[in-house]
Amino acid sequence: MAKTKIEFVCRECGSSHHQWAGQCLDCKEWNTLEEVVISQATSSKPESLKDLPSSKVQNLSEIKSQNSNRLSTGLSELDRTLGGGLVDGSVVLIGGDPGIGKSTLILQAIAAINASSTTLYVSGEESAEQVSDRAIRLGIKEDILFIGETHLEKIIKISKDTRPKVIVIDSIQTMVTDLSNSAPGSVTQVRDCAAQLTQYAKQTNTILLMIGHVTKGGALAGPRILEHMVDAVLYFEGDAGGRYRIIRAVKNRFGAVNEISVFAMGEKGLQQVSNPSSIFLSNQENPSSGSMVMVTREATRPLLVEIQALVDQANGTPKRVSVGLDQNRLSLQLAILHKHSGIATFDQDVFINVVGGIKVSETASDLVVMLAIVSSLRDKVIPSKWIAFGEVGLTGEVRPVYNSMERLSEAQKQGFEVAIIPKGNAPKKPIKGMKVVTAGYLYQAIQYLLENS
Ligand code: TYD
Ligand code: MG
Repeated sequence: MAKTKIEFVCRECGSSHHQWAGQCLDCKEWNTLEEVVISQATSSKPESLKDLPSSKVQNLSEIKSQNSNRLSTGLSELDRTLGGGLVDGSVVLIGGDPGIGKSTLILQAIAAINASSTTLYVSGEESAEQVSDRAIRLGIKEDILFIGETHLEKIIKISKDTRPKVIVIDSIQTMVTDLSNSAPGSVTQVRDCAAQLTQYAKQTNTILLMIGHVTKGGALAGPRILEHMVDAVLYFEGDAGGRYRIIRAVKNRFGAVNEISVFAMGEKGLQQVSNPSSIFLSNQENPSSGSMVMVTREATRPLLVEIQALVDQANGTPKRVSVGLDQNRLSLQLAILHKHSGIATFDQDVFINVVGGIKVSETASDLVVMLAIVSSLRDKVIPSKWIAFGEVGLTGEVRPVYNSMERLSEAQKQGFEVAIIPKGNAPKKPIKGMKVVTAGYLYQAIQYLLENS
């Protein structure tokens, strides 16, 4: 009989432990350890993958790059986020909240690919009728191969028989393999299924698109390990109730990370938004205190986003809540505001939100967040034609950020009239129609705000 060993694997970070505990010792999440039986008798290669061609030894210099023949998804914005299209044999993981549009986007993409290469859509969640209804709604007439199947070995067998160029797995959490006897969606099932599929894709040069669900915290449910296995990870952002969706590449072996593309969900699926720069602004007629616009530049495109702050008398322990921005950074910003500008918020609740459900990870948001907090606390309305950006250091200095000229010209194009920016980013020439206020220290920016708004 095969010898078995028991381990406890964390659903959040994937680390394994010898003993069960209420809290994962690595990522400190509670109640995430799951019992996993490891069979010592498993051979190095699963049965289903045995008859695939084995790898051969080659000279690196003699290998031709495949990056040149990228497969277009028919959606130029998605291609751009992928770094120019899908690379042969690559594995892409697409994550996002339920109902945000993952299945819709992928169906649209493979419909375009199907015109030139065979594609196979594997659904473990929806029936053939449901997927077909969606295809009709999207106006897709292509003959895409479909199977409603969750058994991994069967899927690989069908793939070997039909030899598709692109395989879609919707979703990886519903797949089960004979290699593992834990429940579907558990860490080991997901990991083993993804590993076998990835191996199949690499050995047969097939493109694999895996859809994955995310947890409440925004991470891919359980298997963060998946992110290490695949070539690219795309995440959907945005309010499921809203119209716009952002797709962000958080990892990409074949292109820039943090590259984003914007889509609008409509009657006929997701439509590309090729000039998204100002769609995330709330465009209020009468601006109110606590709101300010910044220009972010993540990857290769500048984007105007509106940051809102609400500072209000605390009732009990003051709350610090940040949606779309780093929560820890907020504590830091409040400490800097107190120490270097004398603005105390220890008896106030502070809420920060990025309009439109976007996530901003840049530190260039510091200055805007802090100005929005001051605006709300002092009830000073920031004129809607103002923008700001800049990183704020622990000593209260405003530090320069990358690509400031590009950010300024984007804001100018959108009709913004005043820009508060780091002193180190002062433009060499004046910008037409725009007053540029430079601040070396945080208090200077705040002073300008209090005196001029
Ligand atoms: P779906 O792709 O099923 O989401 P996911 O796979 O991420 O769970 O998208 C579901 C939502 O999109 C659903 O609320 C209906 C909406 N939708 C449209 O608004 N227009 C469309 O053309 C389609 C196909 C879906
Ligand atoms: Mg779906």
